[in-house]
Parts: sequence; structure tokens; C-alpha cells
Amino acid sequence: MNTTKILLITIALLNCALSERISVPLKLNSNQQLYLTANVGNSGQCQVDFLLSINTCNSSIQKSAKQLEQCGVEFVGLNPYFKGLNYQSQIQLGNSLQKLNLTAPNGNKSQFYGESVLCLGFQRFDFELNTLLQLYQTQQISDQKFFISLNNIANSQEVQVIGQIDFGVPDASVTSSKFVNIKNVFNIISYDALSKDYFIYGGVKVPTQTTLYFNLDSPFSGIPNSTFQKLLGIFMQQGINYELDSEVNTLYIKSIEKLQDIQIQLVQSDNNVFSLTLKPTEYTRKIADDRFQLLIYPVFSEKSFYLGYTALQSYYIGFDLKTQSVSIAQRNNNQA
Ligand SMILES: *[C@@H]1O[C@H](CO)[C@@H](O)[C@H](O)[C@H]1NC(C)=O
Ligand SMILES: *[C@@H]1O[C@H](CO)[C@@H](O)[C@H](O)[C@H]1NC(C)=O
Ligand SMILES: *[C@@H]1O[C@H](CO)[C@@H](O)[C@H](O)[C@H]1NC(C)=O
Ligand SMILES: *[C@@H]1O[C@H](CO)[C@@H](O)[C@H](O)[C@H]1NC(C)=O
Repeated sequence: MNTTKILLITIALLNCALSERISVPLKLNSNQQLYLTANVGNSGQCQVDFLLSINTCNSSIQKSAKQLEQCGVEFVGLNPYFKGLNYQSQIQLGNSLQKLNLTAPNGNKSQFYGESVLCLGFQRFDFELNTLLQLYQTQQISDQKFFISLNNIANSQEVQVIGQIDFGVPDASVTSSKFVNIKNVFNIISYDALSKDYFIYGGVKVPTQTTLYFNLDSPFSGIPNSTFQKLLGIFMQQGINYELDSEVNTLYIKSIEKLQDIQIQLVQSDNNVFSLTLKPTEYTRKIADDRFQLLIYPVFSEKSFYLGYTALQSYYIGFDLKTQSVSIAQRNNNQA
């Protein structure tokens, strides 16, 4: 046995021993949703792009029975609840290889017809196949947690790697602070965070009573309409010229120079306040030389605040399935 071989075996053993975390690059698709690519099947040659489902439990793969068979995927039974077929497959996630179960829609009447998705959210019924739980139950990861970090995505292109998802334990090299645990609001559907009485724009407190939800499917953040209207009022007072296309609820401005930070007050488990800050470059995007679009839109509900993934660029955010809550750490130097 030569030294290279010994080295390779040592690395393989180390990888095995350190498998408490699985890290997979994240990309953006043409609908501006975050996704990851995994190799499916025994041959490993069937590449599938999976969206990440955190607000419903959706673990689906959009391939026909014939295609799946060709990929070397094993049929394990019907999933009548979702009008689907369950498959067990070898799946390569990042550097790690494991067996996972997914549902393929049986025709376009299935609730899972559409796109391939991995469920990382709350499992309410046994027939919902939860990828995070499966990774945990098969001891691929040591905790039922996942962590999302995003690079500066202002100028990112489609398909380019723009961040990372870490399953299991956090990657300490991504953070520059400790994690704080955020209080949740009892909810059987999705991860949320308790928000305090107001959010702050510049120095101005804008009253709002909300629960914060996280959205990995959209760059946009939705805020209660009354809060949105107050924000427009402040823009007007501060001489920020905006243009509102009320048909599609889209707000445009000429320059972001005068814009200020938005701070969302979240309640920590220890009752201290955590201030989640969105910089103007994080809540706007440039669409022409003298035109920016605000990634904020009004929602009808007064009680909900939906945070788009663009708002997470300065943070490393953890989702804990067991406690159904989130924790947040400061992201270290945000590479472009
Ligand atoms: C996948 O489904 C099969 C058959 O129902 C089951 O035996 C196996 O434990 C499941 N695997 C995982 C990872 O849940
Ligand atoms: C669903 O499938 C049926 C039968 O295969 C087809 O006739 C129908 O057009 C499909 N509907 C959609 C919305 O794709
Ligand atoms: C599952 O995901 C697909 C693709 O995003 C979507 O069309 C479908 O509505 C989802 N189903 C459920 C039950 O969440
Ligand atoms: C928000 O409020 C404004 C002013 O009251 C109203 O014109 C608009 O239709 C509302 N929009 C939504 C999305 O509720």
C-alpha cells in the first residue's frame, strides 16, 4: 500500500467520523428561489435541483416512474395522501452519500406535482417525508437543524453558487458571533419568530404587531400594509422620491443614497431584544442605472411579516426542527 492510498483512507475515515454536518451549496433559479443540486440514484448520474420547503412539508421528485427506474431508484410503496409514489434512493448531498425517501407525483393531480422539493419543515403526519428527519434518523447528522448562509447576492447570476446550507451542526467559520435563540409563536405549520411592537426605519419607530416568517422562495419581504403606508410617509417627509406601481405593489426609487437601515426587533428566548438589521443594499436591487426596486411589498394581514432571503445576507440563521424555532448569529465578512 502506498502513502497516497493510506492518506485517502485516512481522509475517508475522518470524513466518516466528522459527518455530523452536511454542507451543500445554494443557488438561485430563474424564479429567484433558493435551491440545491443533488445526484440521485445508484449511478449518481441523475442530477436533480431541489427547492427547500420550510413552510410546508413537501419532499417530492419530479420524474416519471420510468426515469426513476433508469436512475436506479427503488419503488417502496404508494403515498395515497399525496397521490404519489414513494421511492428510496441513494442521494449525494454535497460530499455525503445517503439513502433518502421521496415522493414522486403520480400524475398532475398530485399535490406534489410541480417542482422537486426537500421538506425541512414541520412534519405533521407520518406520510409526509421529511428530509431533515431522515438525515437525523439515519445518523447522518447529529442534530435536527439546518443553517443558511448567503453571500452578497446583489450582482449574482442565475445558477451561480450564492450561499450554503449546513445540515446538522453550524459551520463555525461562517459566524462572527454566538447564536441567539429567538422566541417563536406557537404554530403548527412553519418556523416563525416573535417580533416586538415596532420596526425602526432610520431612527423612526413604526408600530407593528407581528409574527415573522421566513421565505426561502422569494427575495421580497412582505410587511403589513399599515406599516408599509407609514414607511411611504417617512420617505415623503425625507424627500425620497418614489414611484409606486399599485397594480403590482412594487415600489421604485431613483437612488438608494438617502435610504436608511431597517431594524426588526425580535424577542430572544431570554427576553432580550435582538435587532435584525436590513441595509438599503439588502432591501433594494438595482434594475437600471437610475432605478432601484424595493424588495418590500405590503401584505393585507396586519399580523404577519414575511422575511425574504435577501434580508438574511448579514446573518447565519439556524432552523431547529425539534424546538421549532430559529437562532441567529452574525455572519462574518460577507464575501461577494
Ligand atoms: C424509506 O422507506 C422504506 C420503506 O418504507 C423504509 O424501510 C426506510 O426506513 C425509509 N428510509 C428512511 C431514510 O426514512
Ligand atoms: C394533466 O394530465 C392530463 C392527463 O394526462 C392531461 O389531459 C391534462 O391536460 C393535464 N393537465 C395539466 C394542467 O397539465
Ligand atoms: C409541493 O411543491 C410543489 C412545487 O413547489 C407545489 O406545486 C405544491 O403545491 C407543493 N405541495 C404542497 C402540498 O405543499
Ligand atoms: C394598502 O392600503 C392602501 C391605502 O389604504 C390601499 O389603497 C391599498 O389597496 C392597500 N393594499 C393592500 C395590499 O392591502
